[in-house]
Amino acid sequence: MFPQRRMRRFRRTETLRRMVAETSLDVDDLIAPLFVNEILSEPLPIPSLPGVVQHSQDSLRAEVERLARLGVPAVVLFGVPARKDDTGSEASNPEGVIQLALGNLRDDVGDDVVLIADLCVDEYTDHGHCGVLGPSGGVDNDATLGLYADIAVAQADAGADLCAPSGMMDGQVIAIRDALDEAGHTDVAIMAYAAKYASSFYGPFRDAVDVTIAGGGDRKGYQQDYRNGREAIDEIALDLSEGADIVMVKPALAYLDVVAAARAITNVPIAAYHVSGEYAMIRAAAANGWIDGDAAMFEVITSIKRAGADLILTYFASEIAEALAR
Ligand code: PBG
Repeated sequence: MFPQRRMRRFRRTETLRRMVAETSLDVDDLIAPLFVNEILSEPLPIPSLPGVVQHSQDSLRAEVERLARLGVPAVVLFGVPARKDDTGSEASNPEGVIQLALGNLRDDVGDDVVLIADLCVDEYTDHGHCGVLGPSGGVDNDATLGLYADIAVAQADAGADLCAPSGMMDGQVIAIRDALDEAGHTDVAIMAYAAKYASSFYGPFRDAVDVTIAGGGDRKGYQQDYRNGREAIDEIALDLSEGADIVMVKPALAYLDVVAAARAITNVPIAAYHVSGEYAMIRAAAANGWIDGDAAMFEVITSIKRAGADLILTYFASEIAEALAR
């Protein structure tokens, strides 16, 4: 039997397709990740992330002003310090690279761009882990929470609108919430990297922040196992109970089932991080002429929205904003 409904009617013209489109990507959905390196006076390209640079303080300011003009509502900042140590102490230094950046950007753009500070120590520790090491050599969860609390207060003092803890320590959200509240920063929100997987797609990011995990190690002791989907729901529920204002799923593309499941259990904004390796794959294939890079960019980023994300952290933010403005 021929089906009663002809599905192709709405596919005939671009305007018909646009009229019935269920999902549309908007500049307001985008958060641009940006890197700032304390020792640079000129921006430095990151070879494994074509089109992305480590910024100097000055080039960061120019880039955020440009993003503001394009209407991108938010940036998330990652710092590369001049000095690393075993506790990542530069992360909470009031004069540290991110705190200086937050102060500058607040002066430049006021409230026109939401300033989000990634909150972790891996860029700041000499061993490259997201926390302090315990006697057994593993990351000591509870000893790390105090560091995160101090970093949150330093970031909020410097002008962050949101802190985004990415270290996957148990109890990190409540530790940060308590510290922020105690310091009078009740208005500073928390975007929790809630379901963050130990992923091979973070490779280029580690080049971007000059991180090598000591001894060829990995983060499987604290980040999630990619075989687990239901566990992500527990991670998200815990972060919500601890006071997370936004919950994030990371990476995005291999975890769209998790994004959709998260959407089904909560009404808080859901963020998804289209990570460095996901970006680099599209760039590499496009550079080889194997795929149409622009088309792939729109397809992938729109699919993340379709799966249920309200906010998408992506290295394509500026390109998408430019394309949408045309
Ligand atoms: C940890 C952190 C990582 C990323 C964001 N925050 C790396 C990691 O967990 O190893 C990865 C982002 C990306 O790959 O784009 N501070």
